[in-house]
Parts: sequence; C-alpha cells; structure tokens
Amino acid sequence: MSVAIGLAVVVERSTPMRGAVELVVHHPPAAAAVKPGQFFQLAVAAPQTILRRPYSAAWADPQSGRIGFIFNVVGAGSGWLAVRHEGHELDLLGPLGRGFDLDRTGPAIIVAGGLGVAVFPGVVRALVGRGRHVTVLLGARTSAQLLPADRFPGAEVMTATDDGSAGYHGSVVDLLASARGEGPEIFSCGPTSMLQALVERTRRLEVPLRSIQVSLESPMGCGVGTCLGCAIPRPGSGYLLTCLDGPCLAADRINWDRITDTFHG
Ligand SMILES: Cc1cc2nc3c(=O)[nH]c(=O)nc-3n(C[C@H](O)[C@H](O)[C@H](O)COP(=O)(O)OP(=O)(O)OC[C@H]3O[C@@H](n4cnc5c(N)ncnc54)[C@H](O)[C@@H]3O)c2cc1C
Ligand code: FES
Repeated sequence: MSVAIGLAVVVERSTPMRGAVELVVHHPPAAAAVKPGQFFQLAVAAPQTILRRPYSAAWADPQSGRIGFIFNVVGAGSGWLAVRHEGHELDLLGPLGRGFDLDRTGPAIIVAGGLGVAVFPGVVRALVGRGRHVTVLLGARTSAQLLPADRFPGAEVMTATDDGSAGYHGSVVDLLASARGEGPEIFSCGPTSMLQALVERTRRLEVPLRSIQVSLESPMGCGVGTCLGCAIPRPGSGYLLTCLDGPCLAADRINWDRITDTFHG
C-alpha cells in the first residue's frame, strides 16, 4: 500500500448541498493510490487543534491527479478546512485504512445518511464501472441537504427526507424494502444509530450481515494504529481498530449491540 504525505493544492471549492463544502485538491501520487472508501488524515491549522482530521476521499481521479473531499462544519478543524480556497495548500496523509471490497457481482444498494453520502461518489463510479446495477438510497433532514442525484451517473437514485420535502417522508432505511433486488450487496455510511437501524431492518428482511459493508466514522486520534482511540467492539470479545481494520468493514465483524455513538450519545 502506498501512503503519501505532503502538500496538495486546492484547485476547486464548491457547495454541493446546503451546509457542506467540497474541496478538490491536486496530488497525483495520492490520487493514483486511493481505493474507494479509503480516507486521509488532513492537517488543520486552526487554533488549539493538534490532531489531523480524518476525511474519506469522496472520489479520486488518477488521470487528473485530483481528489475530492465533501464535509460539513462541526468544529474547529472542519471550520478551518471550510475556508480553504483555490491556491491554498492542504497537508495530507494517506490514503489510509481499508476501502470497500467491490469484487463481488450482482446488484448493489447504497444506503447513505446525512454526510455519510460523502464517501459514495467514487464508490458508485467504481461499482457502475464494474457493470453492477446500483441503487443509491439517500437520506437527509431536508431536500436542500441531499447531494444531487447527478453525482451518481449510471445509478438509480431514491431519496428520503425527515421533513418530507423530497422523496419518501421518513428514514432512508425504510426505502430498503422497495429497493431490494435479488441477493443485493449493501454498502452504507451514516450515523451509528442509522447503521444500527439498517442492521436491524436487514435481519428482518433476512439479508445476511456478511452481505453488508459499512464505512465507520469513529473518532480518531492518529489514524495509523498507534493510539487505540478508534477501537470498536467485535462480536464475542475484543476490538477492531477503525483506522487499520476499517473504516470499511463487513457488518458481521462488528458487535452492533455494544457499539456506541460517541458523537450523538
Ligand atoms: C474514516 C473517517 C472518514 C470521515 N469522512 C468524513 C467525510 O467525508 N465528511 C465529513 O463531513 N466527515 C467525515 N468524517 C468525520 C470528520 O472526521 C469529523 O467531523 C471531523 O474530524 C470533525 O473535526 P472538527 O475539528 O471540525 O470537530 P471537533 O472539534 O473534533 O468536534 C466538534 C463537535 O462535532 C462532533 N463531531 C465530530 N465528528 C463528528 C462526526 N463524525 N459525526 C458527528 N459529530 C461529530 C464532536 O463530538 C464535537 O461535539 C470522517 C471520520 C472518519 C473517522
Ligand atoms: S486512530 Fe489511532 S489507533 Fe486508530
């Protein structure tokens, strides 16, 4: 695995949906090395921040040497990133961790809640490129917070909003029943509570846990396996490290009863 550390130049900044920023950076070696689902540790120079912040590569293009990151502002680090503009430099370390395993065949369903959608443009592109039928289920609080469907060319897109302003009125997990093909593989990212609801729903739909892969956004310190800050419980006993064993993991490797949502309580 090739990991780059160094400065990337911001070449584009945009607002893909309300409350989110997309930064496109130019770093050919890193762009060539990224596998869909992997993440970078981005250095932030905000006051009183020491640690890098983990962000999934939303997509990467080896030809142009570009990588996109989509994020919202929740604190000092993301606040600092959100005011980077064209020409600014970003100190990145990565790609890190394990991406999604995309090597199966058959239909794929993406279940994305909120900013969990950020990891999926590149994943969907790769799945469609492998000739797989892809259905993207997008959930957000309100329509303005949905990443536009044209970010997923070649895929069928269904939406759900908490306030009913677009698509289904309710949880994105409810869309699963109408999206099921024959033996689909499911890829998901979102708040832990949404992932737990997904696991519960798929149990009822008799979808085996091993056919679900999730991308976890556990709190991280180092991002490279030394601080043990990103441990998550395995079935039985013991822990996995999100930064090394994940962030993309088969759902049957996680103890869903013991995992907690550190951010949302
Ligand atoms: C592997 C990985 C990939 C990630 N990819 C993305 C991505 O593509 N886009 C994106 O927007 N975020 C992503 N995140 C989450 C992102 O790393 C955090 O939001 C970021 O580190 C927050 O830094 P901060 O300094 O702005 O906030 P902090 O000052 O660290 O935190 C401010 C507040 O926000 C809360 N908070 C921090 N992170 C989260 C979170 N993930 N969910 C809910 N609340 C949170 C904290 O508990 C605190 O209350 C990813 C996380 C991981 C582990
Ligand atoms: S973040 Fe330090 S061990 Fe995973």
